[in-house]
Amino acid sequence: MDRHVQALLNKLSCASITIATFTLILLFIQTPETCISNSDPRTLIRFPKSSCDSTHRELVSIQKKNRRLWSTKDWRKKVDSFSDFFHGIRNLGFLTNQTRVLCISAGAGHEVMALSEMGVIDVTGVELIDSPPLVSRADPHNLPFFDGVFDVAFSAHLAEALFPSRFVSEMERTVRPGGVSVIAVDPCSGEELREIKGLFRRSRFVSARNVTLIGLKMTQIIMRNRIPS
Ligand SMILES: *[C@@H]1O[C@H](CO)[C@@H](O)[C@H](O)[C@H]1NC(C)=O
Ligand SMILES: *[C@@H]1O[C@H](CO)[C@@H](O)[C@H](O)[C@H]1NC(C)=O
Repeated sequence: MDRHVQALLNKLSCASITIATFTLILLFIQTPETCISNSDPRTLIRFPKSSCDSTHRELVSIQKKNRRLWSTKDWRKKVDSFSDFFHGIRNLGFLTNQTRVLCISAGAGHEVMALSEMGVIDVTGVELIDSPPLVSRADPHNLPFFDGVFDVAFSAHLAEALFPSRFVSEMERTVRPGGVSVIAVDPCSGEELREIKGLFRRSRFVSARNVTLIGLKMTQIIMRNRIPS
């Protein structure tokens, strides 16, 4: 009798293991309808709160956020101001559509957009906090680029740098010999200007002039990387 009960129990557990396994396999191969990835954008709209496809959802919301941000008057005004600034740099002969430009501490990316709109093909923007797709995350004191890969480095935020000399040496390192670093700083001349020029240990001074950038009076300083002899 005991043996019969044992045998019956064994059969029962075998059966339930089989059923459980089949159920698992069925669940595994049957993707719920709401998770079906579909290139049709209407599908995404129909299931906006689906928890299955978080990456897609994030992309959509970044695009939406950017569209909203980029259509504001303030954004346009700042981009136009950077455009004027870079037209000045172009008129000096330091910028063409083929120039590889690095914008350091680029914030939300106004300068990156200005350069791209001018037709500059290869523009890289970096900031401690990224703002895709215009600005990637990187520490200006430790740039993730090889030596000499840019023709021009630009920053309007040297003054806020924790270690200005390190900030400048990274600018000089990533710019090729003969390329230029362009900075915009609070209006300066004389001793102050000399101090800033002194941070650039591998460059020679090209020019300094007062400009207006995003409504502020600033001094634009251009330094050219020395070509090793
Ligand atoms: C640079 O690019 C802009 C925008 O694509 C274009 O209008 C302009 O003609 C280009 N300039 C040169 C010199 O190729
Ligand atoms: C820029 O303007 C300031 C006054 O705001 C002046 O002291 C300085 O000499 C000017 N710098 C240059 C390079 O013209």
